Amino acid sequence: MVGKIAFLPGDGVGREVAGAARKVLVAAAQKYGVSLEFNECVFGGAAIDECGDPLPEQTKTVCLEADAVLLGAVGGPKWDGATIRPEQGLLGLRSALDVYANLRPIQVAKGMEGFSPLKKEIATDVDLLIVRELTGGLYFGKREEGMDTARDECLYTRAEVTRVARIAFEAARKRDGRVTSVDKANVLATSRLWRNAVNELHEKDYADVKLDHMLVDAMSMKLIQAPSSFDVVLTENLFGDILSDEASVLSGSIGLAPSASLGDGRRGLYEPIHGSAPDIAGQGKANPVGMLLSAAMMMRFSLDQAEIASCIENAISRALAAGRGTGDIGGKDSCMSLTDYICETL
Ligand code: NAD
Ligand code: IPM
Ligand code: MN
Repeated sequence: MVGKIAFLPGDGVGREVAGAARKVLVAAAQKYGVSLEFNECVFGGAAIDECGDPLPEQTKTVCLEADAVLLGAVGGPKWDGATIRPEQGLLGLRSALDVYANLRPIQVAKGMEGFSPLKKEIATDVDLLIVRELTGGLYFGKREEGMDTARDECLYTRAEVTRVARIAFEAARKRDGRVTSVDKANVLATSRLWRNAVNELHEKDYADVKLDHMLVDAMSMKLIQAPSSFDVVLTENLFGDILSDEASVLSGSIGLAPSASLGDGRRGLYEPIHGSAPDIAGQGKANPVGMLLSAAMMMRFSLDQAEIASCIENAISRALAAGRGTGDIGGKDSCMSLTDYICETL
């Protein structure tokens, strides 16, 4: 047994793509003669329906005892008016696991430029990694919600910025050696602290890495204008959420984008960057690739199975190169037929 996986399908298309990932993982593990233990847990809206809590104690315990957590997506219109929302469960889980660094790679592979809505010459050679701070900032500050006034506090400490910046610099050393740190330091105090802490760490430990700073509004433009000019993009929680959905379009669809959320240990949380996609849920239209690439990242980072990870990634690349794919990238496959094809061609 190479690893205990807490398996949280969640809601909407999360359930469909998580099922796809489980199928591919089982097939890949079988090919390599290893076994994986899946512990399925109720989470998100489904957990609110079952026990009134999006992150039940039992689910949290299984996740804390696992080697990795594999998650589909949560949320949906059904719970929009509820006092407790599925998304609170997700924030609670990220915080309980202390996975403060969310890695969101975006690539446009050779020959795949046609999926991108951008001109070929702009989409060519895009290979960037967004490192999004995941357990601080506006998402976790104090909140007040009145009828006529509401407040969301944005708070960052130097230690929180330094630890996620270290992950970004380390990643850059293994890539093209460049970090672009994104903030709003012309307006926000937390951004000035952010910039200062990133500069301090850079001078102290990572002078070999090339560091630039960019304001988030300009960055949202540059990401479309010159996406291949970026290597590692380091930013705070909310900016990273927005910029990563924007960046996913470079490759053609949000359904292609994976993520790994890591802390100080080996255990990680793996999920595609998209949500429960209520507009296509239950129709077999969801692109499973972002989820499958997240499962591959899990095999590499948390379960030490780089070979299995590459096997899954290569099968996905071959399928896309052969013209297979779901409707969001112009293909004819269903989530299931693409998944079966990938399993057969591992
Ligand atoms: P979404 O990411 O669910 O969908 C945005 C658009 O992308 C939709 O048009 C959808 O059809 C499309 N899309 C998403 N995933 C796709 C896939 N795999 N294949 C093809 N197309 C795909 O964002 P939303 O509609 O703003 O949010 C819906 C719900 O999901 C909300 O409740 C939100 O809070 C939640 N959400 C959850 C997560 C998560 O669990 N990590 C992430 C984002 C949003
Ligand atoms: C994501 C999602 C979540 C976030 C929501 C559902 C809380 O949009 O994983 O990107 O904002 O982090
Ligand atoms: Mn998001």
